[in-house]
Amino acid sequence: MVVSVLSEAERYKLDQGDDAAFYAEPRLVHHLDAGFRARLTALYRQRLPPCAVVLDLMSSWVSHLPSDISYEEVIGHGLNGSELQANPRLDRHWVQNLNQDQHLPLADASVDAVLIVAGWQYLQQPEAVAADLLRVVRPAGQLIVAFSNRMFFQKAPQIWTDGSDRDHLAYVARVLIAQGWPSPELIAEETRAPAPLGWLGSKGDPFFAVVAHKPLPEPTAMPPQARAVV
Ligand SMILES: C[S@@+](CC[C@H](N)C(=O)[O-])C[C@H]1O[C@@H](n2cnc3c(N)ncnc32)[C@H](O)[C@@H]1O
Repeated sequence: MVVSVLSEAERYKLDQGDDAAFYAEPRLVHHLDAGFRARLTALYRQRLPPCAVVLDLMSSWVSHLPSDISYEEVIGHGLNGSELQANPRLDRHWVQNLNQDQHLPLADASVDAVLIVAGWQYLQQPEAVAADLLRVVRPAGQLIVAFSNRMFFQKAPQIWTDGSDRDHLAYVARVLIAQGWPSPELIAEETRAPAPLGWLGSKGDPFFAVVAHKPLPEPTAMPPQARAVV
């Protein structure tokens, strides 16, 4: 069941055109600076076990995973097939517009970790996406939503364009909690600009992440006839 959090006005974005058209031209560029990317890769190293089946949702040609760790499988999703084809970390991938269809073509409880980097800010139906992610993630599996303070402004819904960094963290957490991802962890950190400016104390893209875990199923009550009689 999907629990609605946003109003229709909050889903509104300036560019109402098809997202697929906006992403039709491959962008083989980094959307986030080196400091952000290094912090993200360190988080993945810390949180993702190598045996994990990983889903990089809203991906591109990079997945930011530690280059020395092989995961059980890395599945990619995005809007541009050429970008995904160029991503060396992906074992397989598919293209799907999540603002048109939020049902993921993945089996129930088939993924250990979902990563969304600089993507959540473009979701107009984040509740339905978060609800379907709860379906595809295994119990105790995790979802890591990372972002900075940049966006394609015209493609981000009003809930994002009107909010501060702090609002964005609270908003992602609110949607996740409403769909059954309890107690998300919020991370907000400064990063250092790439050298040589970083050596002089210049800051890089700020790092924000929301990390949530799928709850384990409640232990089912034993039927009366199965209880031991003593
Ligand atoms: C700023 S890029 C981030 C790409 C990648 N995650 C990274 O770390 O560089 C935003 C990505 O969000 C995805 N995206 C945006 N709108 C989307 C939509 N309506 N449906 C599915 N994916 C979308 C696209 O895959 C796009 O590459």
